[in-house]
Amino acid sequence: MIKVATALLSAMVCSRAAVAQNASYRTDPNWRPPVAAIARQNPLASKPEAAAGGRKLFLRHCAECHGGDGAGLEKKHSADLQLSAVQDQSDGTFFWKITNGNAVKGMPAFSSLPELQRWQIVLFLRTLRPAAAPTDSTTSK
Ligand code: HEC
Repeated sequence: MIKVATALLSAMVCSRAAVAQNASYRTDPNWRPPVAAIARQNPLASKPEAAAGGRKLFLRHCAECHGGDGAGLEKKHSADLQLSAVQDQSDGTFFWKITNGNAVKGMPAFSSLPELQRWQIVLFLRTLRPAAAPTDSTTSK
């Protein structure tokens, strides 16, 4: 009985950790794009298949700080990109933040990546939404 409970508990702890490795992350209120940038649409919105390439780019350029699953790494103080507070922002906001970075907080600017590659990454970031990656925390008792 105790063994089962322990296993269940550690499974829950692990799945929580996988969902939000930097759950304490708060979006910097001073890091805000101009209105026109917020409204920009992803030119790849009708090409969901481009997200696979976005994932490759993410693993190459972003995972060292954000983790392969985008959940953020506490030791890097990087954003948990799965958080709804992050996901609630527009595609244009993601694009602008990736392009310009937030140097004072340790997020580099990726203006050197071709624009379409940045949009491809934005497409991939949308696949990190918790709804797209359900965890057993909602299904297990
Ligand atoms: C050197 C580490 C590092 C790398 C590499 C990095 N980031 Fe970040 N990123 C951060 C940090 C730190 C923050 C939090 C900045 C803050 O506190 O405002 C952040 C924040 C973000 C945010 C904004 C979250 C919010 O609050 O709205 C997005 C989106 C993001 N990163 C995407 C990316 C993408 C996409 C890449 C790869 C192209 C990338 N990052 C590469 C460290 C990094």
